[in-house]
Amino acid sequence: MSHSSSPAPLAARAGRPLVGRLRVPGDKSISHRSLMFGAVSLGETRIEGLLEGDDVLATGAAMRALGATVTRDGEGAWRVSGLGCGGLLEPEAVLDFGNAGTGSRLTMGLVGGHAIAATFVGDASLSRRPMGRVLDPLRRMGVSVIARAGDRLPLTLRGPETLVPITYRVPVPSAQVKSAVLLAGLDAPGTTTVIEPVATRDHTERMLIGFGATLAVETGPDGERIIRLEGRPELKAQHVVVPGDPSSAAFAIVAGLIVPGSDVTVENVLLNPLRTGLFQTLVEMGADLTIENERLSGGERIGDVHVRASRLKGVTVPPERAPAMIDEYPILAVAAAFAEGPTVMDGLEELRVKESDRLAAVARGLEANGIACSEGASSLIVEGRKAGPIGGGTVATHLDHRIAMSFLVLGLAADRPVAVDDTAMIATSFPTFRGLMEGLGAEFVEV
Ligand code: S3P
Repeated sequence: MSHSSSPAPLAARAGRPLVGRLRVPGDKSISHRSLMFGAVSLGETRIEGLLEGDDVLATGAAMRALGATVTRDGEGAWRVSGLGCGGLLEPEAVLDFGNAGTGSRLTMGLVGGHAIAATFVGDASLSRRPMGRVLDPLRRMGVSVIARAGDRLPLTLRGPETLVPITYRVPVPSAQVKSAVLLAGLDAPGTTTVIEPVATRDHTERMLIGFGATLAVETGPDGERIIRLEGRPELKAQHVVVPGDPSSAAFAIVAGLIVPGSDVTVENVLLNPLRTGLFQTLVEMGADLTIENERLSGGERIGDVHVRASRLKGVTVPPERAPAMIDEYPILAVAAAFAEGPTVMDGLEELRVKESDRLAAVARGLEANGIACSEGASSLIVEGRKAGPIGGGTVATHLDHRIAMSFLVLGLAADRPVAVDDTAMIATSFPTFRGLMEGLGAEFVEV
């Protein structure tokens, strides 16, 4: 999982219009949670459409190491025989999460609720990322932690015999922190309360209710979300159908908008309102983007996202929208490079602690390709299309899948090819990216 293999650089160049219909792999957030919630439920959870990317496979391996039986029946079809709430077993070896922030942080919550010890390791990117945001509330619940300086991986957790249920106001807008506290709270007697000043993706809440937990969400006087979970529920196995990941669909959608003459439909995309900030922003930029065949599946809104190449204009993205499109700023910055006028993005402090410092990685990548931008502490302004050719640069991806995919999309519409220094990490979230994009007519060349 630790990606020590040699880098795989690749370039993308402009060619014919992108045309066609495609389905992207299952949503990463829901995929991780399906395996985890299956592992702490009684009975056999069946999953269809699981994302088989390295991040999610690492979570599957971790659940197996914690005692669940995890079986693959065919493409995207998995079964998890769970141990019931509180039933996880001490793993014999370290849990290796590779590049996966979500897998590691949510599993810390799960493990923290058990009187077992587990050691978490990851790749160079994950080992640089802050874990204190999850460890702080877990310590307050009684979990013992031994971590590297600055609360980085590798680290070892040992849960107490009885966890203390807490009320926790999440200090940063993070669904991972919220989820880790709730997952630990599954094993605490009484009510665990999480207060979110800004709403983040709510898959943990929706899915825990689906698996049988007693969880209620209320809006507080200042508009904050107050989530109350009753501990020690009897979770029951479910049948989970994972919809397409809007964060993966984003690459084909933006490519379809910026490559002249394109007409692209991504089918079966998750349209949870806490995930669709990019689509809303693209519409505000003037994108010809329509949702077709909208329907409900497993309690989530899904639909087909249809785009035609469009003349985009720069916009100011409201900072309060950031949690609903936090993974999409790199690809939005690429769309902004083809827009008329500047696009202003603010409230981006969380981008500094993603798989890479995404704010810096995006700014350097744009500059390397002749696109003017200015990077602030938590903001990015991308100047729109100017006279003169763009492209021709090589982008440093810093072990970040979304930086790699975003800049390959830039190359599909730039005047000169755009190269990225490594594509190996794309397999963490979207292993079929290259083939699906080539199916639409995209041209990639080995460098
Ligand atoms: C995720 C939450 C977000 C997001 C990540 C997936 C989740 O991270 O960036 O890709 O599934 O809960 P943060 O909680 O760090 O914002």
